[in-house]
Formats: sequence, C-alpha cells, structure tokens
Amino acid sequence: MERITGSPWADSARCHFDDADQAQRIDLDALLADPQPDLHLYVCGPQGFMSAVLDKARLLGWPSDRLHYEYFSAAPAPAANHDEASFDIRLARSGRVVPVSATQTVIQALVAAGVDVPVSCEQGICGTCLTRVLDGEPDHRDLFLSPDEQARNDQFLPCCSRAKSRMLVLDL
Ligand code: FES
Repeated sequence: MERITGSPWADSARCHFDDADQAQRIDLDALLADPQPDLHLYVCGPQGFMSAVLDKARLLGWPSDRLHYEYFSAAPAPAANHDEASFDIRLARSGRVVPVSATQTVIQALVAAGVDVPVSCEQGICGTCLTRVLDGEPDHRDLFLSPDEQARNDQFLPCCSRAKSRMLVLDL
C-alpha cells in the first residue's frame, strides 16, 4: 500500500478493504454501472474477487472484449480421472490421429506422440498453449478464454480442456 500511495499514479488509485468499515468497501454496482464504449476493465487478484467483479460486469452489460483478467493460479487439478471420456485428436497438417485416454491431458497425449505445443502454466490460465480448433467441439476447462470466445469453439487450451465430440481436428 505504501508503494501504491507513493507512486506517480497515486491520484488514480483507490484502496478498499473487505475487513474495514462498510463505507469504504468497494461498491461494484456503482463502479461498473456505466460501461462506456472506450472503457476497459482490468482485474487481477484472488479468484473469488475476480469472479465477483467479472460476474457483475457481465451482468451490467460490459462486453467481453473489454474485460481483461489474469488468474494467479487455477483450482488444483483433479487426480487422474478414469471417468473422463477418451477421444481422438486429428492433426490437420499431417492427418495423424492421436488418441487421448481418460487419464491424459491433450498436451500429454501430443507429447507422447512427439508433437510439440508450447506450454507454460499447464493450468489453463496463461494462454500459451492456445490452439486453433478446425472441427469438433471442445470441452473448455480453462480460465483464459472469455465465455464468448469459448462459445465460438474455434480455439481451446489443450493443457486442461478436453472434447465433447469423439474427435477434435486441430490446426497442428
Ligand atoms: S499452458 Fe497455460 S493455458 Fe495452457
């Protein structure tokens, strides 16, 4: 807080505390009430806080291309889950088909098949592994794409997302 209040942009900063009196708590309804066309919202912090801000913004009509966020971490990944459906990946450039078992991520299956996709967080939050989907329906499990971007089903994060269809065709 000292660094913020001592910074050159201190006049533009406001501090709100959950455990202080009600009068200084953040009022999301008031803060986000007017999503003017040139206004962008950037949010970062604990997941509960980010969800509260982003849910409120969407409710108040903020378009998804003006909401910017980055999660510090995702919820811990579940242990290998034998209840997951297996599916196939087809690599559009070579025509190769790579099976993804119930206990593998798409990235793990691709690595096992010798296919290199850059990764960083492997939690669905950084976007490094973003891959174009040419056919099939992804099962989005990331925190990186907006709901609108996920609904388009033309890209997904293979480090955490899976498939709802039996086959996904990727631009690889
Ligand atoms: S590696 Fe970060 S989203 Fe996939």
